[in-house]
Amino acid sequence: MTDNPMAFDLSRITPRRPGRRRRCFLLLGFLALACWATLDALYHFVYHHHRVTAAVAVRPPPSPQPERIYIASVHWNTEAILRSHWNEAVIRLAEKWGAGNVFVSVFESGSWDNTKGALRDLDRDLDRLGVRRNITLSPTTHREEISAIPSSEGWVDTPRGQKELRRIPYLARIRNWTLRPLEDLQRQGILFDKILFLGDVVFTVDDIIALLRTNDGVYSAACSLDFMRPPAYYDTFALRDSEGDGHLMPTWPYFRSTDSRNALLSMSPIPVKSCWNGIVAMPTEPFLSPTPLRFRGIPDSLAQFHLEASECCLIHADNPLSRALGVYLNPLVRVGYTGAAYAAVHPFWLSPRYIALGVWQSRLRRWLTTTFFQKFVVRRRVALWQANSNDRHEVGEFCLTDEMQVLIANGWAHV
Ligand SMILES: *[C@@H]1O[C@H](CO)[C@@H](O)[C@H](O)[C@H]1NC(C)=O
Ligand SMILES: *[C@@H]1O[C@H](CO)[C@@H](O)[C@H](O)[C@H]1NC(C)=O
Repeated sequence: MTDNPMAFDLSRITPRRPGRRRRCFLLLGFLALACWATLDALYHFVYHHHRVTAAVAVRPPPSPQPERIYIASVHWNTEAILRSHWNEAVIRLAEKWGAGNVFVSVFESGSWDNTKGALRDLDRDLDRLGVRRNITLSPTTHREEISAIPSSEGWVDTPRGQKELRRIPYLARIRNWTLRPLEDLQRQGILFDKILFLGDVVFTVDDIIALLRTNDGVYSAACSLDFMRPPAYYDTFALRDSEGDGHLMPTWPYFRSTDSRNALLSMSPIPVKSCWNGIVAMPTEPFLSPTPLRFRGIPDSLAQFHLEASECCLIHADNPLSRALGVYLNPLVRVGYTGAAYAAVHPFWLSPRYIALGVWQSRLRRWLTTTFFQKFVVRRRVALWQANSNDRHEVGEFCLTDEMQVLIANGWAHV
């Protein structure tokens, strides 16, 4: 682009040409990539938005199916949410289903706020409605639990040189207590279709109707998606995608496996190996079989290898219905641990920018990371554990993580 193209000038320009061409190709390449990224993000947003809108448009009809539900719930320091949302939501649910079609089983222990007072209020209101229930308020505190003489089960030698009470068997024991009235009622000939495990979350009656209808009612378990600080989801300890992998990222689109991710994108029931996010519905049968399904922890001998698994993941591993019917996470049922968290994910919860970033972050993470080493560590420890005795087997191996959790006076700790 010289005004005066003398031979002498040209010879000086010529060597620069390849460089300019390279820059040109680079620019074109970059433009193509930017174009692809934009179109791809746009596609994902439009597709996802369309599916969310379609799903919102077909809210479940107002009358629930004639199903009998058994509500099981454990509480510890949950006074605030009980008083602001939970109690009222449970009452609404009981009214909707009819007092005779629900049973409420609550177990609380060791809260130091007035959770017990809030649950007494619920008890009174349920009584007024004529709803059958067992609301057990236990005076036992964490401090008392951990200062007990170590018994045969549920204790572990920790790296800090103490024998400490494992958190998971303790939680399993408490969750099991909420199931005891189910057996008593069965003996009286009173049966339920579904157990609804209700976490300390904000939810509506429509959420429950939608959850029970997950995958047209065919599932071994159906979970909501729970939010503490949206749009990050909350319970990572029990969630495993369709391949049994833990979450790829705590924010949308969460999953490493293609099946789980595609279902989330299309807002269909998401096939997973395990979930326990806020609210879970499960058919009652396995809990009432001759060898009843119950919550449990992994054996202490395995936990000793610095491994742990959520009782809420192991229950899916143990459930004989999991394979036949499938465990699903329902992305249409989004619950929150606060009113603000619930509001932030309704009716929509993702902005176009968020979707664009999420899609790309997920891609990069899938390209650049692997679960190989994590799995290798777990596999090696399980193999060492098995080497000590050949009848050892853990069906919930996909639930295992490199953790040790113990109860402490004011909560629990990783050690
Ligand atoms: C869970 O419940 C069953 C049956 O009630 C019981 O045998 C089992 O020991 C319990 N597990 C734990 C960890 O408490
Ligand atoms: C209520 O549940 C607790 C805990 O499982 C149990 O010990 C108690 O016997 C139950 N009470 C009634 C009246 O069924």
